[in-house]
Amino acid sequence: MTAPSSPQYYEHHVFFCLNQRTNGEACCADHNAQAAFDRCKKQVKAQGLAGPGKVRVNKAGCLDRCQGGPIAVVYPEGTWYTYVDEADIDEIVESHLKNGKVVERLLTPPHLGR
Ligand code: FES
Repeated sequence: MTAPSSPQYYEHHVFFCLNQRTNGEACCADHNAQAAFDRCKKQVKAQGLAGPGKVRVNKAGCLDRCQGGPIAVVYPEGTWYTYVDEADIDEIVESHLKNGKVVERLLTPPHLGR
């Protein structure tokens, strides 16, 4: 038996880990996660992709995959990305969020957790 599900509210829901640690352990905030989040929000809006039935970009705390950071994950697909710069964010927006094509080269290696 499968759990009941409701219709999808967003086509793509993106979460950026913005977690900052002060104990010296790896964290996404040390890799310009805030700037990447801001860039993604801006690009999604600029391309008219934001809103119900389309795309939502949210902040998140630690997603427990810090070794692969900085991390963003796209649902409902459950696609995990490790990005480096603004060009990577722009590619995720253009390819995945706009055209539904996963950016293979930015996928977080599956073995990387916390
Ligand atoms: S600090 Fe970003 S995934 Fe843990």
